[in-house]
Amino acid sequence: MGTEKKIIVTGAQPTGGFHLGNYLGAVKNWYSLQDDFECFFFIPNLHAITCPSYSPAELRHNTIQMLAQFMACGLDPQKSHMFIQSSITGPTELAWVLNCLTPVGQLFRMTQFKAKSEQKDFVGGGLLYYPVLMAADILLYNAHLVPVGEDQKQHVELARDLAIKFNQTYAAIFNIPEPYILKTGARVYSLQEPTKKMSKSDPNRKGTIFIFESIDGIRKKIRSAVTDSGTGITFSKDKPGIANLMDIFAALTGLTVETIEAEYGAYSYNDFKNCVTEAVIEHLKPLQERYLKLLKNREYLNSVLEEGKKVAQTHASRMMTKVYRKVGLF
Ligand code: TYM
Repeated sequence: MGTEKKIIVTGAQPTGGFHLGNYLGAVKNWYSLQDDFECFFFIPNLHAITCPSYSPAELRHNTIQMLAQFMACGLDPQKSHMFIQSSITGPTELAWVLNCLTPVGQLFRMTQFKAKSEQKDFVGGGLLYYPVLMAADILLYNAHLVPVGEDQKQHVELARDLAIKFNQTYAAIFNIPEPYILKTGARVYSLQEPTKKMSKSDPNRKGTIFIFESIDGIRKKIRSAVTDSGTGITFSKDKPGIANLMDIFAALTGLTVETIEAEYGAYSYNDFKNCVTEAVIEHLKPLQERYLKLLKNREYLNSVLEEGKKVAQTHASRMMTKVYRKVGLF
């Protein structure tokens, strides 16, 4: 793997399985970057404990499952480094240094913090400092590009701000990372409330398609997706349900929204839902088969994590030596 390649860093939390939003907004896009970039794909398990009601046993289980999901979606350990965030010495140390440069007001204003803290009775410090840990993940491996869905853009912008601030305050050691966001699939909405993003934690399970759920379940969810009472497959703000299905269809087939309007414009909502269902199933079936095979081979999964950890730790240690020296720490 040539060191001259630009660096990609990104991750997905091990909180339950991937849903269609994670897949279309993130992982499907990561897959195609592996040949041209040096990629660090990790499982941010330290972020996952910011939610106080998690089960430790489930977290460990989900962490390994997430690796199998990465690989089932085409991430290749021969090309990319895959590892667990907490297995590396560096993210929390760098997060502390960055915390000291972060105005807390900016953290209180973060969209995700505001939304999540409103839903919870207990708001821990981890939830507030979550974006700083994410900035540390990005800067530790000196990322150039951070492929994420639209919802994480603000966090990547904080990482940029912190890289600039560190470089100005101490020494110019960090690249200034850019968010990398696709046009289609960057924000997949709930099938039940198509103005709200699709989410793992949505209490209405019918709104979220998990990519490793049963084919039958997927059919039912798309069939019962909420639409308006109109007709015609057209992309418009006042038809959020149809627009969401069109966006999903576009991301899966590679067709543009304009082509979909031209080719499917006269379809009934039900007929179009059938087309979307078939596209989703055709796409997900091979992934599901690969996933089940991978899960059975725990030894192989462990070896992938060990390999990934070795490379990631080398990069992290090199960067932390520089950071501590510049900041005046031992
Ligand atoms: P997470 O685990 O919530 O989501 C993983 C990726 O999926 C994208 N995504 C979506 N894209 C489109 N539509 C949706 N409905 C949707 N929901 C989620 C997310 O934008 C993300 O790209 N904080 C991050 C994990 C993280 C990270 C990092 C990412 C920790 N450190 C460093 C990049 C770099 C998170 O919770 O993602």
